[in-house]
Amino acid sequence: MLSRTIANILPYMPKKLIWIFSKRYIAGETVEDGLRASRELNSQGIEVTIDLLGEFIRHPEQAEENKRRYMDLMERFTSSGVSGNFSVKPTMLGLLIDHEICYGHLRELVEKAALRNNFIRIDMEDSQCVESELNIFRRLAAEFPGHVGLVLQAYLRRTMDDLVSLSKLPAPAPNFRLCKGIYVEPPHVAYKDYQEIREHFLEDLEFILKNNIYVGIATHDKYLVNGSFELLKKYRTPRDRYEFQMLYGVTPELRHFIVAQGHRMRVYVPFGKDWFNYSTRRLKENPKIASHIIKALFVREQNRRITPEKHSES
Ligand code: FDA
Repeated sequence: MLSRTIANILPYMPKKLIWIFSKRYIAGETVEDGLRASRELNSQGIEVTIDLLGEFIRHPEQAEENKRRYMDLMERFTSSGVSGNFSVKPTMLGLLIDHEICYGHLRELVEKAALRNNFIRIDMEDSQCVESELNIFRRLAAEFPGHVGLVLQAYLRRTMDDLVSLSKLPAPAPNFRLCKGIYVEPPHVAYKDYQEIREHFLEDLEFILKNNIYVGIATHDKYLVNGSFELLKKYRTPRDRYEFQMLYGVTPELRHFIVAQGHRMRVYVPFGKDWFNYSTRRLKENPKIASHIIKALFVREQNRRITPEKHSES
């Protein structure tokens, strides 16, 4: 209730104030900010996946512009020596305007990634997008195997069926990021119970490991991290067949713990001028995030008093 009220109020608060809350989770506005954050993570032995923030689009020209921005971004990052890949939200490339326009833009991005021996991860959005995103992924994976991956959301009732069907794709096996899912979905589409979602996450992960599919285990939930450790051990999964993934600024202590155990880690680094709309929209989609933001303010204030020079991300 409190989270929802705060989420509704935040868009009307001064941008500077929201930035105080948001900067822990967003690398900044410019490509230089994204590069700086990525280099810092690389120096800690952590890979990145770069996400250019974008607002809801209504016109094909905006999709074209976003594609151009991603192409430039890929150029900058791949030539700068940063160790990482790219995450893309298909709605930014026009998925909800015209499926084929979106496919065409994503194809260009994946083609460029393939030429640079890099990789594009297609983020999974709300349930109205799932079928189209799967369809685009299948087409691109057939043309550029090894250079495109998809996200699967453990809270969706359909995910195990999707996994079974995707695991039959011809070699090389696909590459998935498994996460809980962030959008608010109706109960006939998604499991709603917290523990039930966790159980489905581990079931999905077990299926993935059994089938020798590369996986990014994307969670900050200690219960799931421990459950993943057990499954990785059970299936004797080699360290180069999986990685853990976390969001920029979230649970750095757990992240350090996982890295210290010798597991690969990738951090999702969002940046861009649209951070304000992005932050407030995410809050509306999932008001629970508001409570994290408030908590972050206090943790940040506390850290500042103790170690004034400490970077907010680490
Ligand atoms: P949970 O929400 O239970 O969080 C566990 C603990 O982590 C919390 O108790 C809290 O301490 C901390 N925490 C979690 N989120 C926090 C936050 N924002 N701020 C501060 N603390 C936080 N979803 C989706 O639908 N499509 C996608 O493509 C992606 N992509 C993606 C990439 C990566 C790398 C990650 C880590 C996550 C995503 N997600 C996503 C989001 C995902 O679906 C999920 O909503 C969040 O990761 C939160 O779920 P957890 O598993 O972390 O558990």
